[in-house]
Amino acid sequence: MDKIIIKGGLPLHGTIKVSGAKNAALPLMAAAILAPGEHVLHNVPDLRDTRTMLTLLASFGIKWRRRESDGALLLDSTIIDNVEASYDLVKTMRASVLVLGPLLARMGRARVSLPGGCAIGARPIDFHIKGLARLGVVSSLDNGYVEGSVEGRLKGNTIYFDIPSVTGTENLLMAATLAEGITEIRNAAREPEIANLIDMLTAMGARIDGRDSDCLVIRGTKKLRSAEVTIIPDRIETGTYLLAAAATGGELTVAACNPGHLGALIEKLREAGVEVRVGQDEIFVCRTQPLRSVDIKTLPYPGFPTDLQAQIMALMCLGNGLSVITETIFENRFMHVAELRRMGADIKVDGHSAIVKGAGSLTGAQVMATDLRASASLVVAGLAAQGETEISRVYHLDRGYDDLVGKLIGVGAVIRRESE
Ligand code: EPZ
Repeated sequence: MDKIIIKGGLPLHGTIKVSGAKNAALPLMAAAILAPGEHVLHNVPDLRDTRTMLTLLASFGIKWRRRESDGALLLDSTIIDNVEASYDLVKTMRASVLVLGPLLARMGRARVSLPGGCAIGARPIDFHIKGLARLGVVSSLDNGYVEGSVEGRLKGNTIYFDIPSVTGTENLLMAATLAEGITEIRNAAREPEIANLIDMLTAMGARIDGRDSDCLVIRGTKKLRSAEVTIIPDRIETGTYLLAAAATGGELTVAACNPGHLGALIEKLREAGVEVRVGQDEIFVCRTQPLRSVDIKTLPYPGFPTDLQAQIMALMCLGNGLSVITETIFENRFMHVAELRRMGADIKVDGHSAIVKGAGSLTGAQVMATDLRASASLVVAGLAAQGETEISRVYHLDRGYDDLVGKLIGVGAVIRRESE
């Protein structure tokens, strides 16, 4: 296992170009299952999770390659000769559940391992199973696998989400595109990654109304065709670097991003006294005054994203007062608190809220990554802390950040990666 060592206290200066969004690439790669032919996906990030998804798609018989000339990912799903997603793949990446809907829609059956829990919560998939049943899927649970099948085509129906589930919406949206008749998805999630998926499905010939809204209407069709699409920029990677710059007191431009996807974060940064200037596809931040402590509550998009909660908590450790951070999406997403405390943070957890008493500074320490975004939080804290921070188990970071160390070195961070 690798570790990352950071010499903190140095302001970041310069420009970082972000990669394509992990949480758009994963559903869009799964969507290739729906139609035979060669799909072309641009701006797919090279991450552990996208590599896992490629291994999973290849296990179904899908052929893939990266085009030399422009790095585009080509997915040829002409042949699918296996419909089972094995546990050893699914256990490393919960988003594997995204192949369930497309396999059932195209092949009429699927056998996908239950993902199991993860550090941030139980992460059940009951909404996925319930929604697929509404479309006519008969499923059973045996030996930790969900087995689903449908006689003939899926049947359109109305589906209502208790909670706007992101991958739940994506799974059922993909399944509904090949169903017979009309499907309505009510209380659908509205994350930008879902709009990106809708754009790909539309290019494949699907008929979908309600993009960006919480009510999607899909008119099913008998078949779809292969398509070419570009993955949107990663808004969570963008937000992570903006928070790192605010924490170190530097001046940073994040380029090739979509500022429109980060309204909630930009608002919070300005409230905290950070200067933020927004361009067409870039965001500039600099901090020239003491950081104000602000309160944060995570919500479904367009509210403050839960995937930036750990990272903004690191920033609030440097604030000038009390910051109450409330996590409303996942039941156990404060694993980073114990590690931040090792760096001198004063944080009290009370149920779904963490009360952060800004200490103005942090001190470097040996800490351990527990999950993807908690690892990012420790990087933000390490960059700002006085002294050296050593983060172990950084394989978590590799799931969602493409060349994080290289990008930070490029803007003046003293950071290196070593094997443990
Ligand atoms: C997606 O996870 C993202 N992953 C997560 O990003 C993100 O944190 C999350 O959405 C919330 O924005 C991908 O897109 C691959 P949910 P997802 O279904 O779809 C409960 C990262 O760091 N729920 O929107 O799994 C669930 O437990 C990852 O990149 C059920 O109860 O999240 C949670 O409390 C972490 N039953 C809430 O709904 C279900 O069937 C929202 O979860 C599904 C979800």
